[in-house]
Amino acid sequence: MTDCLGDGAGDMTPMDLYEKLTSQGDTVRTLKTEKAAKADIDAAVQLLLKLKVDYKQVTGQDYKTGCPPSECAVSQDNGPAADGEDMVDPWNVSTTNAKGVDYDKLIVRFGSSKIDQELVDRIERVSGQKAHRFLRRGIFFSHRDMHQVLDTYEKNKSFYLYTGRGPSSDALHMGHLIPFIFTKWLQDTFDIPLVIQLTDDEKYLWKDLSLEDCHRYTMENAKDIIACGFDINKTFIFSDLDYMGASPDFYRNVVKVQKHVTFNQVKGIFGFGDSDCIGKIAFPAIQAAPSFSSSFPQIFKGRKDVQCLIPCAIDQDPYFRMTRDVAPRIGYPKPALLHSTFFPALQGAQTKMSASDANSSIFLTDTPKQIKNKVNKHAFSGGKDTVEEHRKYGGNPDVDVSFMYLTFFLEDDEQLEKIRQDYASGALLTGELKKRLIETLQPMITSHQERRKQVTEETVKQFMTPRPLNYSF
Ligand code: TYM
Repeated sequence: MTDCLGDGAGDMTPMDLYEKLTSQGDTVRTLKTEKAAKADIDAAVQLLLKLKVDYKQVTGQDYKTGCPPSECAVSQDNGPAADGEDMVDPWNVSTTNAKGVDYDKLIVRFGSSKIDQELVDRIERVSGQKAHRFLRRGIFFSHRDMHQVLDTYEKNKSFYLYTGRGPSSDALHMGHLIPFIFTKWLQDTFDIPLVIQLTDDEKYLWKDLSLEDCHRYTMENAKDIIACGFDINKTFIFSDLDYMGASPDFYRNVVKVQKHVTFNQVKGIFGFGDSDCIGKIAFPAIQAAPSFSSSFPQIFKGRKDVQCLIPCAIDQDPYFRMTRDVAPRIGYPKPALLHSTFFPALQGAQTKMSASDANSSIFLTDTPKQIKNKVNKHAFSGGKDTVEEHRKYGGNPDVDVSFMYLTFFLEDDEQLEKIRQDYASGALLTGELKKRLIETLQPMITSHQERRKQVTEETVKQFMTPRPLNYSF
């Protein structure tokens, strides 16, 4: 292989090396996206690794995507997935492993921290509540600065929650429910304000949709979110298309972030290329802004120091790595995060449930019959080919999608464990396991639909009106 550094790494400035690394990361990503020959991808990855070694020699630091040497302080992103690693970003989730993404490796790559038993115990102690099943079962598995949030709370200081949704269609799927169910639990448990961003602007920029469609989806999705049971006195839901123009403070924060993040940084973090529209390049600042309390003066009375906690699936982390990098440079606290694993596609945990593939998803609009058919027809089974073999050797709950779905939604720990053991021993057949899942999902979705029917246009309007919430700051 020729030396990519020409005269050798010693002759290059740290910035030159950084630029070379960033562009090599782009090359690797493009080759993978275009499904280039394995040999070409391998060669590009080797070069990327060599550049990282050279960079460390020259700067004494690890290369961090989106963090040029002079500005580098906190970003923990260790670059695009190397060959064979799982792909996780806001647009793609994929792995070759039937058990799903290797979340322990992802924690190392993203530089976040594991939610260990000690943290779960501390959340229980501080809140006085039994931990939610998503915490007990490692579904929320990673965090940034959660101990700091608990320290704040223990000092009787408030914090606030921020989460969101990109309204790309009329209906949410079950995967979208995960962060909202958990956010509601956090709101009830800690009694704190919540802001929910609906990024209709993002969907307009990324999808082939009109502005009117995106805004209409916002209003429809808001009904599903409200139906999760959020308290109207403690929750502000907003459409970017409406709030950006209505709130000077929000827009000022967007502009501050835009001034302090370079094109190189967003290229490194999000993989934007020369043919992406400039709206996409500017958008991450809009998802960052709600992490700062001064974006909501009606709620926080102009205070800019209220700590923010963001529950989301880990695909959204790139936005918040950027936000955490920029926060101290514009005088704000870094938002803390709680990351969830992905609710898998019906076909298996190699990818997440996604709205762009209707067959992979159970939607909140599905009828009981559709749910039954989808589970019976599409849910990937860890069972054996024949009843005899299954009875003899047992099934594999670790790759069985019906079992995975039950870990998200069956509340009773003992029942879940019994199902796991019975399936693994062969006492429980695949058809019986699927039946159990269908019986769990059908009433859950039907009652969601009933709650959604009760949400009037007037209620949506109230949730979406900028106003003080039931807290004094
Ligand atoms: P969106 O609409 O893609 O997803 C909304 C929320 O659902 C999570 N999610 C999933 N969680 C578990 N399993 C899945 N299969 C699954 N699919 C999606 C996402 O992580 C997200 O939390 N850009 C964002 C909208 C947004 C946002 C935010 C999200 C704006 N500000 C702050 C979280 C926090 C988006 O398009 O999300």
